[in-house]
Amino acid sequence: MKSPFDNITIGPMTLRNRFIKSGANEGMSRNGIPTKAMLKHHGDLARGGIGLTTVAYGAVNEVGRTLPNQIVMRESSVKDLKALTDEIHSHGAAASIQITHGGPLVMGLKVKGSTISSSSGINKAGLLSGNFWQRAMKESDMQAVIDAFVGAAHIAQKANFDAVEIHMGHGYLLNQFISPLSNKRRDQYGGNAKNRARFPARVLKAVKEAVGKDLAVLAKINVADGVPKGATATDGAITAKILEQAGADMLVLSGGRNIESTWFMFGSTVSQEGIARVLKSPISRLIVKATTLLKPKKIIFQEMYFHKYSMQIRKAVSLPLAYLGGVKSLANAEKAIADGFECVVMARALVHDEALVNKFKSGEITRSGCDNCNKCVNYIHHPGGTWCIKRPANDPTINAIPASQ
Ligand SMILES: Cc1cc2nc3c(=O)[nH]c(=O)nc-3n(C[C@H](O)[C@H](O)[C@H](O)COP(=O)(O)O)c2cc1C
Repeated sequence: MKSPFDNITIGPMTLRNRFIKSGANEGMSRNGIPTKAMLKHHGDLARGGIGLTTVAYGAVNEVGRTLPNQIVMRESSVKDLKALTDEIHSHGAAASIQITHGGPLVMGLKVKGSTISSSSGINKAGLLSGNFWQRAMKESDMQAVIDAFVGAAHIAQKANFDAVEIHMGHGYLLNQFISPLSNKRRDQYGGNAKNRARFPARVLKAVKEAVGKDLAVLAKINVADGVPKGATATDGAITAKILEQAGADMLVLSGGRNIESTWFMFGSTVSQEGIARVLKSPISRLIVKATTLLKPKKIIFQEMYFHKYSMQIRKAVSLPLAYLGGVKSLANAEKAIADGFECVVMARALVHDEALVNKFKSGEITRSGCDNCNKCVNYIHHPGGTWCIKRPANDPTINAIPASQ
């Protein structure tokens, strides 16, 4: 029987085990580059036994940023990104980086001109930052976005990453094509699920052609959006099939959208107060607080909350899949592998304890102490970076120093 501790080869990358740290905004980059706090965090994860750790949220260019301090995948970031991968590799783990374009999903910065998306209209997400309108992408915009993803993948390659994870979930630009909540196009990129996946598949294919011999090319997709009129698991299975054909080495399965259904993404309600706190304008704060009214009052957390949906994807494709969503125990990880997923991905359990994998392996514990309070999500904006409130806060001073110093 396969075990989550078995090694595995995904495209050109071999992992010492099947545990993956999910891309989870560390709040540990400043001016577009990773900090020493980021180095420590991923170093601790690597020392703690993880097979592959995912650095969150590298914007493919400046206009693709969602948050002002986010990593930007450009030449001037290579030195600090490389310091990060050197640290991860020195402890035997592999390193992946999420590459994203937010499109209209921008917080805390004003994009020059109108933001791009699958379709034109009012930009709900941008109301907070004065980015009121979004415009439908033309072919020339599509080519520019493809080039930006390819450029970002080349930067990842220069910085010695083992994989890139193209973000196609959670409401970011590529997801705005996949999800019928935002894609209202009538051309070959809109309409049915196959058409909606067409542009994200073009991006993936181009990235694969550019770096696929050296780097594993992963994509994070939604198994479903979790709200009426959103993408369903049937749509998710079609997306997965198309990305398989485009050459993806593995899909990381997630769900939910940052604006419409964070509760679905986390399998539990996330308090908006921390996000509101970081916003400067009182009107913005009011709008964020008002969004809580759109969410169900109380979601009862269930471990493995994406299992049912992910099994539907598993049945539809044969490429490697990584299970994510509410993994809290060794038994959950073993179940995911037994059910046919190649890898197991965790975010909150590893924010709570970076050494979890080694503790599972030694038998010291069989269950994470994370109780899904979701306060770590609010603390993305803390000066010390994301941390679990059950532990001492991170040191903000090391979160102001570039990773390579
Ligand atoms: C603090 C925090 C920050 C996150 N930031 C990101 C992110 O930058 N990109 C992303 O794809 N998902 C992000 N997520 C979502 C996680 O990657 C993951 O999909 C979700 O937490 C469910 O996995 P879990 O049950 O193992 O925590 C974040 C989660 C947490 C807890």
